[in-house]
Amino acid sequence: MHIIPNFIVFEGGDGSGTTTQLALVRKRFASLPQPPLVYTTFEPTDGPVGQLIRSCLRGDLMVAPPTLALLFAADRNEHVHAPGGILERCTQGELVISDRYVLSSLVYQGIACGGDLPERLNAPFPAPEALFFFDIDPAIAGKRMETRPVKDIYEYLDFQIKVREAYHALLPRYADAGVQVERIDASMPPEAVAETVWRGLQKMPIIKSKERKHEK
Ligand code: TYD
Repeated sequence: MHIIPNFIVFEGGDGSGTTTQLALVRKRFASLPQPPLVYTTFEPTDGPVGQLIRSCLRGDLMVAPPTLALLFAADRNEHVHAPGGILERCTQGELVISDRYVLSSLVYQGIACGGDLPERLNAPFPAPEALFFFDIDPAIAGKRMETRPVKDIYEYLDFQIKVREAYHALLPRYADAGVQVERIDASMPPEAVAETVWRGLQKMPIIKSKERKHEK
């Protein structure tokens, strides 16, 4: 597995709080006296393919599950390889944190399409250096999402139970390949989750070296 240094991914089922936590991490980095260069991003992206995906997720546009898997991979290819994309930024020493990446496709499209298409489409993408998995009982996550006005096609309990199982089944693959995997108990209050995430981030070489420089 090829790993991109300085690249972190937040993953989890719907309603696990990845988006909230990413915003908190960003704020915390910004409050440091000498913050590292941090770029936060997300998938599906807000690029043209990402927008197409979002209409599929809302149910406004109907496509076959394998088509959606292809769209996610196309969106990701731009996200990683376009100028100003993940690879370029990480190579230049920026810390990039993405709300979702390859593992979301292996999990969600793995369930929705079956077969090996999601694996084949995503095999070329490099892995992150660290992966934070926000683990939560899908029933609790579902309660948190009750107030959301629009439901995505994947936001129902039976599907989310399979999503959690698939994450648990796939995570060891990353840990075995040398990716720093942090399982976060996402059922805790947001501030407690944020504290755990922050502790996990302190293990990253880019942050440790920054601290060492700061101490000198
Ligand atoms: P999410 O981050 O939950 O977006 P929102 O801000 O709308 O809550 O992601 C949208 C959905 O897309 C989520 O259900 C997971 C799904 N998804 C996939 O199915 N495959 C993928 O490759 C990615 C990146 C996301």
